[in-house]
Order: sequence, then structure tokens, then C-alpha cells
Amino acid sequence: MSDLTEDEAFLTLYADLAREGPGASADLGWALSVAGTPATARICDAGCGSGADTLTLAKDRPQAWIDAVDKIAQFVEAAQKRVAPFGDRVQVRQGDMAALNGPYDLIWCAGAIYFIGISQALKAWRPALATGGRVAFSEPCMLPRPSQAARAFWSAEYPQITDMAGIRDRVAQAGYRVLGENMQIGAAWENYYMPMERRIASLRPSASPALAAALDTAEAEIARWRAAPSEIAYALMVVAPE
Ligand SMILES: C[S@@+](CC[C@H](N)C(=O)[O-])C[C@H]1O[C@@H](n2cnc3c(N)ncnc32)[C@H](O)[C@@H]1O
Repeated sequence: MSDLTEDEAFLTLYADLAREGPGASADLGWALSVAGTPATARICDAGCGSGADTLTLAKDRPQAWIDAVDKIAQFVEAAQKRVAPFGDRVQVRQGDMAALNGPYDLIWCAGAIYFIGISQALKAWRPALATGGRVAFSEPCMLPRPSQAARAFWSAEYPQITDMAGIRDRVAQAGYRVLGENMQIGAAWENYYMPMERRIASLRPSASPALAAALDTAEAEIARWRAAPSEIAYALMVVAPE
């Protein structure tokens, strides 16, 4: 019998995880407050994964209309199941987050904007923003004076990483201004890596060679994070078009 493809092994690891990247509901609350998102807002969760933040938005904003989009069918199905109790006001669809229609009061994009690029995404989303609309996104950020361990983590995970000045530059290049910045360090990463560690342990005993290779890769990533957890950061940015 043939083994899993690399994509299938990846999706097996990620099945049933609560989220697919670092994040915390408190940070989402902070972003909504900085953005001044109204109670009845139209919100898009762009690159929603399995819908961790879509669910938080649906619970915390009971009068909001929420669209969520992701390109991977397995994540879309998982997110649809999670938000089914909220009915029509929360919709999850498979699609390309680069092509949003709107109009949205807030486009929320946790750990996914790097797939498109900050400037490219902000430019593409501008026509989808309602008057007064905001974008909140998280992006890997190199902290000042990184240790060897922090450099090793990012050179394996995201060699294109910049410091905060580099993120601000890319926001400005797109014609946006920064309303707020918040560093996600520690808890947001534990929310991602701890459930993944449990998933790896549960899959390991019966893993095929392809799945075992995916588990090894994920384990190595977690080990690199553990070597520098207070230095590995996402910058959470709330921005508005000029
Ligand atoms: C690191 S995960 C973050 C998922 C989720 N926001 C979270 O924090 O758990 C990035 C997600 O972006 C999605 N993605 C990447 N490029 C995309 C695109 N062009 N359109 C829609 N989704 C995309 C991936 O499928 C993946 O689910």
C-alpha cells in the first residue's frame, strides 16, 4: 500500500488541532478594541484555518456578521462544524483570501498574511474595506539583539523575517497607518504548540514513514521554539488606510 503524500501527512498532523498558528483570544479582543470595531460589524477572518478565531469572534461579537475564508478544504470543513451553532451570520468558505469582496469593518488575519506579503495583501484588501474599516494581522517579528537560538528558529521557519521597523515599512508602502502594535510572545505560541505536541504523541506509535517524517519536522520546530520562547514573537498590528 502506498504511503501518504507530504500534504496528506501534514493534514493528518493538523487534523483536530484547535488552531494552525500562534494566537490567543485576549489578543483578538485587544485588536477589536484598538480597531474600534462596532458591535454590528462585518468581519472577515482571512486564512481562518480550522476557525479558532472565527469561533471567538462569533462568541464575543453576537451581533456581528462574520465571513471566514481558507484555501484548504479540510480546515474549512472543521471551521464550518465549529461555527454551525451560530447560523447564517457566520459563514466559512473555501477560497483565496487575496480576493475578498467585502465591505468589511475589520479584516482579521492571524498568522497568514505572509502567504501573500503584507504590502500586497493590504493593497488587495483596500477595496474590500468599508469606510472606516481596519485590518488586523500578525506577522513574524525579529526582536532586538536575537540570540543564536532565536536566529536558528527563524532561519528554519521564516528567513524573510524582519524587525518591527521592517513591518512598519511594509504597512506604510501599502498606504496604511499603524493604529496599534502588540507583541505575541509565550502564551500565543503555547496555544499552538502544546496541542500539537499531544497530537504528535498520539500519532507516533502507528505513524507510517511519511507521517513519521512530518512528526519529526514538527517536533524539531517545537524544540527550536523551546530553546528561545521569550524571543519568538509575532507582531500583532492594527492598521488603517490613509
Ligand atoms: C498558519 S495558518 C493560521 C490559521 C488560523 N488563522 C490560526 O491562527 O489558527 C495559515 C492559514 O492560511 C491559509 N492560507 C494561506 N494562503 C491562503 C490564501 N491565499 N487564501 C486563503 N487561505 C490561505 C492556510 O491554508 C492556513 O490555514
